[in-house]
Amino acid sequence: MASHDITIPDELKPADGRFGSGPSKVPDTAMAALSASGHDIMGTSHRKPAVKGQVKRLQEGLAEFFSLPDGYEVVLGVGGTTAFWDVVSYGLVREQAQAAAFGEFGNKFVKAVSAPHLRAPSVREGEPGNAAYLEAEAGVDVYGTTHNETSTGVAVPVQRVPDGDALTIHDATSAVAGLPVDMNETDCYYFAPQKGLASDGGLWIAVMSPAALERTAEIKASSRYIPAFLDLQTAVDNSRKNQTYNTPAVATLILAAEQIDRLNATGGLEQAVKRCATSAETIYSWAEASRVAQPYVTDPDLRSSVVTTVDFDGVDAADIAQVLRNNGIVDTEPYRKLGRNQLRIATYPAVDPADVSRLTGAVDYVVERLAA
Ligand SMILES: Cc1ncc(COP(=O)(O)O)c(C=O)c1O
Repeated sequence: MASHDITIPDELKPADGRFGSGPSKVPDTAMAALSASGHDIMGTSHRKPAVKGQVKRLQEGLAEFFSLPDGYEVVLGVGGTTAFWDVVSYGLVREQAQAAAFGEFGNKFVKAVSAPHLRAPSVREGEPGNAAYLEAEAGVDVYGTTHNETSTGVAVPVQRVPDGDALTIHDATSAVAGLPVDMNETDCYYFAPQKGLASDGGLWIAVMSPAALERTAEIKASSRYIPAFLDLQTAVDNSRKNQTYNTPAVATLILAAEQIDRLNATGGLEQAVKRCATSAETIYSWAEASRVAQPYVTDPDLRSSVVTTVDFDGVDAADIAQVLRNNGIVDTEPYRKLGRNQLRIATYPAVDPADVSRLTGAVDYVVERLAA
């Protein structure tokens, strides 16, 4: 049957068809709260209590959500995670970073810490679909890895590399709020809010340890040239005043604070992790039982429970994604550069596990019709 002729019956459709790995589903309740904030916050100064109150709300919400150890601070700035990679290169790496790169985003981090003011990074590479791991090495002062590689759906545990005063940092852009983390095991857990925080893009948020804060001050006091926009000490100073250096994405702040408040009210990180694991298990077990699909990540221990990837055999996954899209189920396409015959389905905390179940039924329906 031609793909444009396939209509998925309403009873098989998820109530919400947004399964993108980022930007991802923003709950209707959060949009309603944003709208209900009326004239009080949007369109008002970010140096005044209304907007600063939202920054504070998000900082305090995250501190509770992560049970922050003493001395850790929630720092934020403008520009998303991509900007924060450059912030790391100017503000956290003294001389050399080691990077675990096992996908697109890990590789982008490598580029950022290859800046000319640093020694070339030491890179530990893993094949896509697999992982790579950090390991103590002489001369390295920052160890960086992705917590969840969004391009492949591989997740690794958050673990500190024991190596003197070297820092261990984690790109948690897609992991945040859905994968387990003990903040004692990281010096900088950084992310953007358009995925697990069910918000929009434009900001970076970094949960920083006392050692990372000290390193920031040390580098700031050195003779290094630091572009103003990428100055981590400036971001720390502003964050302590519940501000950002330059104008923030205010709606993004409000939506992120909404999500964190909601998660804190419903069992916090532990429950969010369980909910994502339930959704992901639905996908992986369905794929394992399917005649045409299988999980892309072969090692079950590496399979992400926030970004799931499923390979198809004998049916064009792009056709499936197109039919889903025609029927209002969007963004199940794989990461474009991975080049697999694949669907990628996000199972962030905002995604309803019941919708994930319905999605598997909808995909089965589409696969049968495409073969007919
Ligand atoms: C793991 C990871 N790191 C970094 C980024 C880049 O984030 P941003 O678009 O906020 O710069 C993404 C976005 O998809 C990501 O998934």
